[in-house]
Amino acid sequence: MARVAPSILSANFLHLADDVRAMEEAGAQMLHVDVMDGHFVPNLSIGIPVIEQLRRNTELLLDVHLMISNPDEMASQYINAGADYLSVHYEAAHHLDRLVASIREGGAQPGVVLNPQTPVSVLEEILPQCHHIVIMSVNPGFGGQKFISTSLEKVRKLKALTDSKGLEAQIEIDGGMGSENVREAVQSGVDMVVAGSAIFGAPSPKESFNRMQRAADEAAAITDNDAISA
Ligand code: DX5
Ligand code: ZN
Repeated sequence: MARVAPSILSANFLHLADDVRAMEEAGAQMLHVDVMDGHFVPNLSIGIPVIEQLRRNTELLLDVHLMISNPDEMASQYINAGADYLSVHYEAAHHLDRLVASIREGGAQPGVVLNPQTPVSVLEEILPQCHHIVIMSVNPGFGGQKFISTSLEKVRKLKALTDSKGLEAQIEIDGGMGSENVREAVQSGVDMVVAGSAIFGAPSPKESFNRMQRAADEAAAITDNDAISA
């Protein structure tokens, strides 16, 4: 089972409720929410007030991706705003172990995000504490960028690491995903596929979501069968 997480960065902010409703109707289980501070990444996006409004308006899981310079100081406020999953960058955190523990204690599911140039090996110690790991398959800061193809090799390394340690940490991939590369990502070990422009930039976001979720389901079924017959 692999879930597609629509990224509202590419939604219509003047009609955000409509886009959220469309994703609920399409059967999405979660929304990916990109928080950018214009410092850790060059771009600015949305923050706590929008997350609070989303929380009041949907039951979908809010998968909040913090691209901010001071996640150690701010994480608790994003949990209070309504984040269910809260992902912090390895490259931004000062005391990652403390931060991940505090996210869990605060009642959210902690995740660690790796930029494209950061190797999976840095996760060795923190992995048992993580609910999920996000592999960035673009450099963070903008929607609509081209998928970095070497990201799948990182996914496979991470999957091998979690399996070898008997850990359950889910693997999320973020950036440049669409119906054409979701299969290979899921076959490589991905459990959550973030997609912004491929969904909200399409003429029918619902159909686009469905196409991606179907591709993810098919790939997961093949992967499961392979595991059973192995
Ligand atoms: C990029 C963000 C992504 C972004 C993905 O920094 O983390 O979540 O919304 O957008 P697409 O799917 O258009 O690459
Ligand atoms: Zn993101």
